[in-house]
Amino acid sequence: MKTWTMESDLCQMRPLDTRDIGPITQLAGAAEIAANTFVPHPYPHDAASEFVKLCQERWIHDEAYTFAILHKPNRDFTGTIGIHLDQAHNCAFVGYWIGKPFWGRGLATAALRLIIQFGFGRLQLNRIEAGHFSDNLASGRVMQKANMRFEGVRRQSALHREHYKDVVYYAILRDDHLRDQTS
Ligand SMILES: CC(C)(COP(=O)(O)OP(=O)(O)OC[C@H]1O[C@@H](n2cnc3c(N)ncnc32)[C@H](O)[C@@H]1OP(=O)(O)O)[C@@H](O)C(=O)NCCC(=O)NCCS
Repeated sequence: MKTWTMESDLCQMRPLDTRDIGPITQLAGAAEIAANTFVPHPYPHDAASEFVKLCQERWIHDEAYTFAILHKPNRDFTGTIGIHLDQAHNCAFVGYWIGKPFWGRGLATAALRLIIQFGFGRLQLNRIEAGHFSDNLASGRVMQKANMRFEGVRRQSALHREHYKDVVYYAILRDDHLRDQTS
């Protein structure tokens, strides 16, 4: 397995592994995570180990790369970010969450910026997209701060805990990214 790692002033990212099962169980079970993702709630006791196993399998098969987001300087586990590949179209979809005690420190933004660099650099992608429920303004802000462009809203396109939700989509193209770097 390729053990790619990434780093910014704020965080380090490495492939998710069994060390993360405990912290994921602690953080991912919060109602605030479930409210904006498809992470189960209440969080089943074996869900974290199943999630790590699934991420490792997808990594080995080059389907998706999911990273642990560690907060410097103590390398506390704070959340995860995954980039899911659509090989046929040379693009990818990104999903992330940060544990509630670590919100508001810029970690999601730092992690998204790193994964965008990784997607256009190491993976040589042409397009990276992400989507958030329309009432999740914080996640929209994260996408904007990572220079993703608003693309539109797919109305009631997600069935989330028995409610249809509008999903707001953002994306960044390789051309956008190169332009951003030179401007
Ligand atoms: C959304 C989430 C990832 C943000 O993580 P984070 O590490 O706190 O994000 P950052 O600190 O990098 O940036 C958050 C930004 O949102 C802003 N924000 C927070 N709450 C907000 C709100 N209710 N409305 C608008 N903006 C808001 C913050 O002010 C900050 O922007 P700023 O730097 O311009 O002030 C985190 O809250 C989370 O994991 N939520 C639950 C799961 C989830 O939503 N995952 C994403 C699914 S698309």
